[in-house]
Amino acid sequence: MTGRLRVAVLISGRGSNLQALIASCADPACPAEIVSVISNRSEAPGLGFAAAAGIPCAVIADGDRRSFAARADALLREQGVELICLAGFMRLLETDFVEAWRDRIINIHPSLLPSFRGLRAQRQALAAGVRFAGCTVHFVRPEVDCGPIIGQAVVPIHPGDDEAQLSERILRVEHRLYPLALRLIAEGRVRIVDERVEIHGWRAPQLTLLNPQDSAGEPFASPRG
Ligand code: GRF
Repeated sequence: MTGRLRVAVLISGRGSNLQALIASCADPACPAEIVSVISNRSEAPGLGFAAAAGIPCAVIADGDRRSFAARADALLREQGVELICLAGFMRLLETDFVEAWRDRIINIHPSLLPSFRGLRAQRQALAAGVRFAGCTVHFVRPEVDCGPIIGQAVVPIHPGDDEAQLSERILRVEHRLYPLALRLIAEGRVRIVDERVEIHGWRAPQLTLLNPQDSAGEPFASPRG
């Protein structure tokens, strides 16, 4: 199939989101294809998923932020990449690089942005005592974990959750949200207007959730009946 959006995925570690993106792009009907995986760590386990799928992999590990940006930029252009997906990429990107690829870099972050930017977002959510957490896919701007929001997924926080349990619950929805966001972009349905995302043909889910609920799964009844 021709005309598929040419995508690069940048990783630093485990690569479970990369794996979800690879699985979704394996569908011949998917309008995106992953043509490049770049890691800043040679030992990133995610490189194995890319290699197994026959996707060209590169490691750009040495050098400072500027030299990483220069080498990555050259490679991405040589590969004809049209969109960059950051998936657990733990290196800060040079502002010039982000501006050169403006509106063509997206990221997934394990919080409901703009809450809990930065590292260990799940731990920040638990510390804040919020009742819902989740993840966000957004366009990347030079400031960390900022930029127009494409999609979000919400999960409840359960009594007694620890960081690992919450991270796992969020990760399961990350693996659904990131492929969905990529598909919407590849279908040409996403545009940025005044730094907010408009999605053609989008519907909001028809539900409202309360947390806490009572033991029967219903929201607490009013004490006054
Ligand atoms: C994910 O939680 C993602 O939201 C964050 O880093 C983690 C990467 O996990 N940006 P993986 O490498 O995709 O498994």
